[in-house]
Amino acid sequence: MNKNPMMWQGFSKLSLQERLTKLVDAKLLTISDVEYLQNGGVKSSLLAEHCIENALGYFQLPLGVAAHFCIDGRDYAIPLAIEETSVIAALSKTAKWINHHGVISTSQKGNCIIGQIQIPRINDIDYCLAQLRSKQHDWIAEVNKNIMPNMVLRGGGVNAMEFRHLERSDGDSMLVIHVLMDPCDAMGANLINQVLEYLKKPIEAATKEKVHLCILSNLNDQKLTTARVVMNNIEPQEGLAIMEASIFAETDPYRAATSNKGIMNGIDGVLIATGNDWRAVEAGMHAFAASSGQYSSLSRWRYHDKQLIGELTAPIIVGTVGGVTALHPTANMALRMMNISSANHLARVIAAVGLVQNLAAIRALSTVGIIQGHMRLHVDNILLALSCSDEERSWLRQSLFERIEAKLPVSINIAKELLAKQIKC
Ligand code: HMG
Repeated sequence: MNKNPMMWQGFSKLSLQERLTKLVDAKLLTISDVEYLQNGGVKSSLLAEHCIENALGYFQLPLGVAAHFCIDGRDYAIPLAIEETSVIAALSKTAKWINHHGVISTSQKGNCIIGQIQIPRINDIDYCLAQLRSKQHDWIAEVNKNIMPNMVLRGGGVNAMEFRHLERSDGDSMLVIHVLMDPCDAMGANLINQVLEYLKKPIEAATKEKVHLCILSNLNDQKLTTARVVMNNIEPQEGLAIMEASIFAETDPYRAATSNKGIMNGIDGVLIATGNDWRAVEAGMHAFAASSGQYSSLSRWRYHDKQLIGELTAPIIVGTVGGVTALHPTANMALRMMNISSANHLARVIAAVGLVQNLAAIRALSTVGIIQGHMRLHVDNILLALSCSDEERSWLRQSLFERIEAKLPVSINIAKELLAKQIKC
């Protein structure tokens, strides 16, 4: 239950200026944040030059806030950078519904990211493994001392090595060394890659084998975040319909891909708003979704005795220090809005947003269908793309809403035809 439900009362009906004022009053934004947003966000070409090569400028995405979220007993305003209509509305509506019926909680297992060192064709597996096992503790101590003394002081660093013997399709065998590192609040990609390259020479010298690739893995099953929704007093018709939709996605990879896309609608929005590497999280989550051997849903919903329980577990590897997270003023602001205290904290919030977005989509799909809510909001996108007077726009808006109510198709071409007919009349 929201600690302060009044905060979001009528929020979606406010004007942009009123929304900003409300967030300032709630101390979620500062006056300078508002000025920054109203002046068009980040402008300094230096940041673009610093981040990428051959920089030309910026690609701006809309930034919005999902309302009504209460995660682990704490209220949140969730910033999302996203261009897709209805995601933020659906998140807010569903978080509000959950507040009335239950709670969102999160948990985490493991702390490490994985780096991989490949020995593509192993000559003497027994000798190689004996060398690796006898030297691993010295190497771990060496990289912790030479590459990341500060990380060790913060409680992180490399803490284990694992060895995987894999069969190649040509009959030879490959050895893959996993280096496990706790990156604390950093995403840790650059650091782990430096560790792996540092270890290449000593591993080759000790094993007399040839090392090939040294690179982190985005399939991180050493650090999993879980979000859980428990709701009571849900009517059987609705609860069973949501469970059926979940079983469909758990069983059929074609449906799982779409269901997981819905989850990523929420997750990517927060990742982008906080300056995190959404490609890495996407790759990791989809690989994890296929870890049983068949691509499946990342979430699972069950209904029994008026209780609906949903769960999502995934590798959500994010950072709150370093990289764009630290440099981009919008990312900074987004983290402040949520009062994020650590990378693990951010991962928990992101998992919760993914699960709530999933519930929003499958609830709509298994009741009224997705078209009604999504298309009602999408009408404004269609109107934006047409050049017409305010009077024509308002008439067209009403006509398109009537078509949606009547379950008739709506598209930009249909809008153009309706407008042309109206102008002729
Ligand atoms: P509604 O019942 O018309 O909403 O739903 P309402 O007017 O009763 O308002 C309820 C609350 O929703 C509001 O509370 C807001 O929080 C929020 P209030 O502020 O009044 O106290 N809300 C809005 N917030 C901001 N701007 C708005 C707005 N409207 C409502 N304009 C809604 C309308 C679109 C929310 C509903 O139809 C819905 O949830 N639809 C689902 C849409 C959806 O899931 N979109 C995600 C993209 S599609 C997707 O995920 C891909 C997919 O393929 C995934 C899959 O297959 O699983 C579908």
